[in-house]
Amino acid sequence: MVYIKSESEIELMRESGRIVKETLDFVGKNIHAGMTTKEVDELVYRYITSCGATPSSLGYGGFPASACVSVNEVVVHGIPSDRVIADGDIVSVDITAEKNGYNGDAARTFLIGNVSEEKRRLVKVTEECFFKAIEGLQAGVPLYDIGYAVQTHAEKNGYGVVRALVGHGIGRDMHEDPSVPNYGRKGTGMRLKAGMTICIEPMINMGTWKVNFSDDGWTVTTADGLPAAHYENTVLIKEDGVEILTL
Ligand code: MF3
Ligand code: CO
Ligand code: CO
Repeated sequence: MVYIKSESEIELMRESGRIVKETLDFVGKNIHAGMTTKEVDELVYRYITSCGATPSSLGYGGFPASACVSVNEVVVHGIPSDRVIADGDIVSVDITAEKNGYNGDAARTFLIGNVSEEKRRLVKVTEECFFKAIEGLQAGVPLYDIGYAVQTHAEKNGYGVVRALVGHGIGRDMHEDPSVPNYGRKGTGMRLKAGMTICIEPMINMGTWKVNFSDDGWTVTTADGLPAAHYENTVLIKEDGVEILTL
């Protein structure tokens, strides 16, 4: 069931989106080599709660933290731990915050210190995948055009597109219909409608698209151990374009 948000619901989603964006900016200013991924989570918890919002990930399906913190070969859903972030790492931080009953969800991949040229390129192309996906996006566009755009750009650059995890609708729940894959055939899928709010979140691997699921129940890693990047925003579909709620 796809929910179309009213203007007053959209106003609340703008506020949650703004909090998520500010939290990620705060993380970006403070994340550094030598810190543990648990300390990153503490920054996230502190910032979100100081805004009068709730970190939706905390306790979601049993997830034990406010942020997913995924280093190098960890694609997504890294559980904050005593792992120390090192110079040259790329660290994806994915957070969801709820305020007044509505969620915002976004992720960034941060470059820590002296990062290799090939990892920098992966992070850059992953961000580009998102922006390719929103080019020309508006009401009436078929849903899988999003995945087509992401996949085309990623594969053109020699990268693997994660299939096992997808973007999603968002609103009162962190995950609503529809699923928003990062792969797909142009011109297929439901037609987007104004008032839909969706998360577009390319998860791009330097090597194979294949991933492994850890027996901790959460951590997703690349099957070949090569690095992965993640970039996500919450996007409102409008008649004549999109509004990015987390930028
Ligand atoms: N923020 C993630 C997403 O983009 C989901 C978080 S999983 C959780 O869909 F367990 F941390 F909540
Ligand atoms: Co997310
Ligand atoms: Co998401």
